Amino acid sequence: MAGLRRLEYRGYDSAGVAVLADGGLAAARKAGKLVNLEKELAARPLPSGTTGIGHTRWATHGGPTDANAHPHLDNAGQVAVVHNGIIENFAGLRAELAERGHELRSETDTEVVAHLLAEEFSATADLAEAMRLVCRRLEGAFTLVAAHAGEPDVVVGARRNSPLVVGVGEGEAFLASDVAAFIAHTRSAIELGQDQVVELRRDGVTVTGFDGRPAEVRSYHVDWDASAAEKGGYDYFMLKEIAEQPKAVADTLLGRIDASGALTLDEVRIPASELREVDKVVIVACGTAFHAGLIAKYAIEHWTRIPCEVELASEFRYRDPILDSRSLVIAISQSGETMDTLMALRHAREQGSKVLAICNTNGSTIPRESDAVLYTHAGPEVAVASTKAFLTQLVACYLVALYLGQVRGTKWGDEIRAVVRDLAQISGAVERVLETMGPVRELARSLADKDTVLFLGRHVGYPVALEGALKLKELAYMHAEGFAAGELKHGPIALIEEDLPVVVVVPSPRGRSVLHDKIVSNIQEIRARGARTIVIAEEGDETVVPYADHLVRIPVTPVLLSPLVATVPLQVFACELATARGNEVDQPRNLAKSVTVE
Ligand code: M6R
Repeated sequence: MAGLRRLEYRGYDSAGVAVLADGGLAAARKAGKLVNLEKELAARPLPSGTTGIGHTRWATHGGPTDANAHPHLDNAGQVAVVHNGIIENFAGLRAELAERGHELRSETDTEVVAHLLAEEFSATADLAEAMRLVCRRLEGAFTLVAAHAGEPDVVVGARRNSPLVVGVGEGEAFLASDVAAFIAHTRSAIELGQDQVVELRRDGVTVTGFDGRPAEVRSYHVDWDASAAEKGGYDYFMLKEIAEQPKAVADTLLGRIDASGALTLDEVRIPASELREVDKVVIVACGTAFHAGLIAKYAIEHWTRIPCEVELASEFRYRDPILDSRSLVIAISQSGETMDTLMALRHAREQGSKVLAICNTNGSTIPRESDAVLYTHAGPEVAVASTKAFLTQLVACYLVALYLGQVRGTKWGDEIRAVVRDLAQISGAVERVLETMGPVRELARSLADKDTVLFLGRHVGYPVALEGALKLKELAYMHAEGFAAGELKHGPIALIEEDLPVVVVVPSPRGRSVLHDKIVSNIQEIRARGARTIVIAEEGDETVVPYADHLVRIPVTPVLLSPLVATVPLQVFACELATARGNEVDQPRNLAKSVTVE
């Protein structure tokens, strides 16, 4: 149950467990959060055993009911299986099983696997072999974990395009979709590759391909401990993760400058000669990571003069993008398991492009399938709403942009060092922002009964506005939209009405002062039409004062780096509004942390 709690952020609409005990298999399943399962187990305890499986679900096929919750069992109740992903050919398999007399009791795609495993086990008496045979018949993306009463000391797992990691303890072993589930027991982990089956026994772990051939495995040490995945005194993981941002930003910068003062990104294994040939950068990502990409574009184009496109990973491969060996594709993902991003990077590699992953999760699929990876060092991010991952993704993007500038000679060494010095100041600046969030929280609480909040920004402030709106949607369930402020007069200004809260991210008056002046005009335009203006502006920017109903100050920061500080108040704002509206901050409705289906 402790392991499931650690994984609950990945899906939380139902949960279940099965345990091998007394020569048989016992299972319990419950719709709703894990706490419902706990109550069920307290009321009707299962026999105790040391081999078992469990699951928290994010529904794909069939609603979140007891009957659709995992584990799913065969008709004889001998085999239990849990599954993440989608089995695309389940309808055909289901019809086939029904013809052979199987009675399927749920609406899920998963249940067919339990029945198929039962059939194969009765022929082979070997669960791992049964799993291999079944997997060869499945289409789609899946992680499967199964236990069978006929092999009481064995758990078998399989994966295709969906995460599964093995934890190796002393005299014990674990399988989970994320190391967080077993980190309290062991920090020694094994990565499973695509199309592999793993068999866990008392005396060890065996990995084979779906074809039965022994597979090579890579072991690694998890470099964070169980306390990193605890709330540590905060009410919500999100609050803890917001507070961790100064450290996360600083950690992501660690060790990036060598003795000669040059930027070193050792993990970026793409030779400098190839990076010099790059004629286009394409960033693919989803959600918050996509917003990091939108901001990165400004830095990449400005510092390297290489054209940069940013695209939603879910759209990318379907429009037949123009890619070749001179395109550098950057895939940004906190989890490293987002299916849309994974599919986009695979498409890019098929076209001969090099892929660089920016990722927070060691050993996950996206970095493993990329040509190179730059890890962010945010530590585990548990809250569904991404915060510290976003800031560290930005830092990583800036580093990549500078590195490209360094190898291509579009940036001098001293210029790069100056930006890195500016980046090193960000941790302290974020800390200062966090210290002054009292009025932002108060403001958020006062808006709890509003229906709509708009966000405006220009230049790098535009993606910040999009990110502020996304946070509010997913946490407060409010209508929130981000606009480029220059677009206002082309339509959105019609939305402005009396007392409508509008958050405006104001560019620095230094540097791009033209933009600053324009956005000050925009603020006046919306205020004249009744908007309640919430202005986020740099310390010392006095021109905005007369037009701000609420003023949020952020430290003076170089323009391109300003999203690192400007986003923080918007995270706090959304978190507080969600709390005021009585919403579940860490586990917003309908969402899951890691979207491992397309
Ligand atoms: O793990 P990833 O960074 O690939 O996830 C991408 C998005 O699903 C994620 O950023 C999502 O938008 C967050 N819930 C936003 O807070």
